[in-house]
Amino acid sequence: MEQQKRYGHFDDQHREYVITDPQTPWPWINYLGNEDFFSLISNTAGGYSFYKDAKFRRITRYRYNNVPMDNGGRYFYIKDGDTVWNPGWKPCKTPLDFYECRHGMSYTRVTGRKNGVEASVLFFVPLKKWAEVQKLTLTNQSNEVKNLKLFSFEEWCLWNAATDMENFQRNFSTGEVEIEGSTIYHKTEYRERRNHYAFYHVNTPIQGFDTDRETFVGLYNEFADPQVVIEGKPRNSHAHGWSPIASHYIEVTLQPGESKDFVFLLGYIENEQDKKFSAPQVINKDKAHALIAELDTTQKVDQAFAELCQYWDALLNIYNVRTGNDKLDRMVNIWNQYQCMVTFNFSRSASFFESGIGRGMGFRDSNQDLVGFVHQIPSRARQRIIDIASTQFPDGGCYHQYQPLTKRGNNDIGGGFNDDPCWLIFGTVAYIKETGDFSILDEMVPFDNQPGSEVTLFEHLKISMDHVINNLGPHMLPLIGRADWNDCLNLNCFSWDPNESFQTTENVSEGTKAESLMIAGLFVVTGKDYVALCQKLGKTQEAERMQKAIDAMIEAVKKHGWDGEWYLRAYDFYGNKIGSNECDEAKIFIESQGWCTMAEIGAQEGMVAKSLDSCKKYLECEHGMVLNNPAFTKYIYEYGEISSYPEGYKENAGIFCHNNPWVIIGECLAGRGNDAWSHYAKILPSYVEEKYQTLHKVEPYVNCQMVAGKDAFKPGEGKNSWLTGTAAWMWYTVSEFILGIKPDYDGIRIDPCLPETASDYTVNRKFRDAEYEITIHPNGAQKGVKAITLDGQLVDGTVIPYSAGKHVVEVTM
Ligand code: BGC
Ligand code: NOJ
Repeated sequence: MEQQKRYGHFDDQHREYVITDPQTPWPWINYLGNEDFFSLISNTAGGYSFYKDAKFRRITRYRYNNVPMDNGGRYFYIKDGDTVWNPGWKPCKTPLDFYECRHGMSYTRVTGRKNGVEASVLFFVPLKKWAEVQKLTLTNQSNEVKNLKLFSFEEWCLWNAATDMENFQRNFSTGEVEIEGSTIYHKTEYRERRNHYAFYHVNTPIQGFDTDRETFVGLYNEFADPQVVIEGKPRNSHAHGWSPIASHYIEVTLQPGESKDFVFLLGYIENEQDKKFSAPQVINKDKAHALIAELDTTQKVDQAFAELCQYWDALLNIYNVRTGNDKLDRMVNIWNQYQCMVTFNFSRSASFFESGIGRGMGFRDSNQDLVGFVHQIPSRARQRIIDIASTQFPDGGCYHQYQPLTKRGNNDIGGGFNDDPCWLIFGTVAYIKETGDFSILDEMVPFDNQPGSEVTLFEHLKISMDHVINNLGPHMLPLIGRADWNDCLNLNCFSWDPNESFQTTENVSEGTKAESLMIAGLFVVTGKDYVALCQKLGKTQEAERMQKAIDAMIEAVKKHGWDGEWYLRAYDFYGNKIGSNECDEAKIFIESQGWCTMAEIGAQEGMVAKSLDSCKKYLECEHGMVLNNPAFTKYIYEYGEISSYPEGYKENAGIFCHNNPWVIIGECLAGRGNDAWSHYAKILPSYVEEKYQTLHKVEPYVNCQMVAGKDAFKPGEGKNSWLTGTAAWMWYTVSEFILGIKPDYDGIRIDPCLPETASDYTVNRKFRDAEYEITIHPNGAQKGVKAITLDGQLVDGTVIPYSAGKHVVEVTM
């Protein structure tokens, strides 16, 4: 293994990851903002901001896959004599005397020191505000007076991030700005249909500005050596078309030991139609002035920051564990929960691997994300469920994605992914179990957002189940449609045209026999939940009807879905087996092992145990379990995108972290705690960070979607960090199945599954209006609760009955 250099470390006390070398193996980013205004920020302050929708309301510009990588962001240039430097090292890359980036919970602090001056910038989006605060503190740590020239820099995006990157014949003529005091306003297209503008403000008088990019940077210069900064003189340029930017110029004198704060504010404003202008062509700035006034002093900003920190304190106090294992505790208590909030907010839209243009909110993705998030802010999860269900069609099918700004289904992608409907049950049941709020089931929810088409949410769940039942194939297994969870197993696609997307090409659906064992398992798991819900609601007939369908599905899997040592993956268009020992390649797939073991199909016949053993034997490697084995070595027309990836990457035998937890849960249900733990630890970021910082490449504090598998050129290399269902599944797995604290309709079910080396641990769990302190004594057992006491009283069974107030629970295994 190559020499592993370290670029940072965890600081658990502050809930931060501290990066000490700016030249990380890949930009290591963080997210700012919690609800409407969002920013992505790298460890060198690269990145961009947007309002709600990274495609339709992009505030600042960012160029993906740039050279150098991660170029463009919020930059402060400090000119001290002839030396120009940035607190985050980039873009000037002037060697710093000290560099540190601290990524925390919705904030990032970047600090640089050069020639006796320290510049520290705190970036965050205050709660409920549509603005990014950049609090810059300059400190003179030398013995001489320092006369510094400070230039700020932001580059505006012309709102629609897609057309911003392509429609230059128009774009170069539309750009418009206004300058008023220390505020630069970006108002492109405001004259016509937009009722929103952005601004960049600083809370001090400025000695100059620039708003035209070519004037500021110089046509033959770069972000690393902007002409204006090199000359040390702003040009007060006023952009008309071309590329508008915002740069303030401030002269700063610092006595030895002196420190000064500057509050920069990047804000977003919406005006009502009849209040757009204060004079012809002049934007109405009232709301901007008001927003600025709320955040124009260090004191106000510090207060807003304190509120943000309290907000996170409260969120992270809902589920808190003390196991004595720092690596586990920091992931459970901090980073895994944090990543769940981020995936809930962004689905798969905007990361350093998702351009914010292509993909909105996924139907299946968002339902899974909310399972990782629902304990944090249940009311937001509730709204999300309604939004998602509103994109369903009357037959139970649904749009695969919808846009966050409009909440409308995305026509470009369409529907037909036959696993999608089941996930609505997964998400809704998790919400009700967490909150006890059955009233959500009575909410009237439309189809395809059409007013007048509303039926109850319960009805949506019912048609979701029916969608599977109404789309069975020749083996009575679910037809796969466009694809199931694995977007790349495109069995009805048959594409020879490299210019068409596997995801959207017209599928052949007439006469298809393509069936999915993954959906079969998913149907049984979510079906059991649905049946229990119906029973809870007194809908006995419906419960019985669905139980029959589940029993039939189980029989179909046992009969047509078992390959001898593991579950098959699918049948193709022609009815041939996929994921069978009979196949030349990809003899075994992880998804069906995960879902069918979670469904415990054929447990009595030994299928579950055999399947789990096969995962260890064929899929597991040093870095986790691969998706399929052996990898495809050639393109298979009948299978689509999966076989388009080189061996060991993505859906072709990559370690697709998302589905490792499915097998881990299968292990937990089977009571195999040692195996569950060893699979889990392999993809737990804190374990990976210790061993593989350089090899792994991406952020060591969060999970990534994919780690190169054993057949890859460089096994262990990670990609697609942050926005992945892995976050929610890691959380669901560890919180409910390993540590064993499982919300249920009437209370909390306690059923841990642990490695036999586990010591006693305590979980503090806020649940509805109750607060439980639960201490587990494993006594070397992997599974099996012997006795539970609630406030000293023996409990019957494994569910602690819910009652408001503080409770102490002791569990002996
Ligand atoms: C990726 C999948 C993704 C799909 C949908 C594919 O290229 O490999 O992981 O879900 O695109 O955009
Ligand atoms: C990423 C997609 O967002 C998700 O929906 C899908 O299940 C996986 N890729 C696997 O293809």
